[in-house]
Amino acid sequence: MALLEVRNLSKNFGGLAAVSEFDLDVEEGTIHGIIGPNGAGKTTLFNVISGTYRPSGGTVKFEGKLIAGKRPSAIAAMGAVRTFQHTALFEDFDTMGNVSIARHLHAKETIWGAILGTARKMELANEKRAEEIVEFIGLGEVKHELAVNLSHGHQRTLNVAMAVAAEPRLLMLDEPVAGMNPSETAEMTDIIRKLRNEWGITVILVEHDMRTVMNLCEHITVINFGKKLAEGSPDEIISNPEVIEAYLGSDDILGEDF
Ligand SMILES: Nc1ncnc2c1ncn2[C@@H]1O[C@H](COP(=O)(O)OP(=O)(O)O)[C@@H](O)[C@H]1O
Ligand SMILES: [Mg+2]
Repeated sequence: MALLEVRNLSKNFGGLAAVSEFDLDVEEGTIHGIIGPNGAGKTTLFNVISGTYRPSGGTVKFEGKLIAGKRPSAIAAMGAVRTFQHTALFEDFDTMGNVSIARHLHAKETIWGAILGTARKMELANEKRAEEIVEFIGLGEVKHELAVNLSHGHQRTLNVAMAVAAEPRLLMLDEPVAGMNPSETAEMTDIIRKLRNEWGITVILVEHDMRTVMNLCEHITVINFGKKLAEGSPDEIISNPEVIEAYLGSDDILGEDF
């Protein structure tokens, strides 16, 4: 059984089929890329999987359980957590503060914890884990910087750290290297690989940047006009004439080294 199983998924906006009869299997332990030209339906697909939008039709199963139509917080609590294409953080808190807040948002704290006096113990464990995540993800040097003062690359990395703070089994990243310079992109690529290799987190990566996708992903699904165009290994994808056709005329043409 795949960790994530999408069947016949559709999302319409008025007369526009942003995602149409889409099937997707994401195997546990893989880094799975979803690519496609601008407006292809990548973010919409993410929004439906993560619960931001209700599907117009079809099903989404995570660990065999139906999640389509549930609230994002409920889906995150089950272990499927997303980041957004645009950065969202608490600007007036430092790096550690942001990761701690993200943990609190997902913590299964109850009134009983407070009554039974375990809240303080949990608080300390939370802080320790937040620090571990910040170090692991390479933000140790800026852990006491206010988020608003971080570089663009560090802000995006902090966003990933905040998603990791929810202890996901499936991490869904929407354009994690958007707007990054080459060295920031290389750092983010390393972080994503490390999260999978060392912490075993399965990753779905929606990305405009072909090079990053080809570098990172073992498996790629191509979406165009809301429909699945192709699926396979990076080698299969870059030699697929339909994929090349879809990207012709856009500014996403592969670099010379492909
Ligand atoms: N909330 C929305 N309301 C109406 N149309 C939308 C909405 N979100 C996305 N769309 C449309 O759906 C299509 C797919 O968009 P999107 O999923 O953002 O593409 P991508 O992420 O691949 O660039 C586009 O035509 C877009 O204009
Ligand atoms: Mg998008």
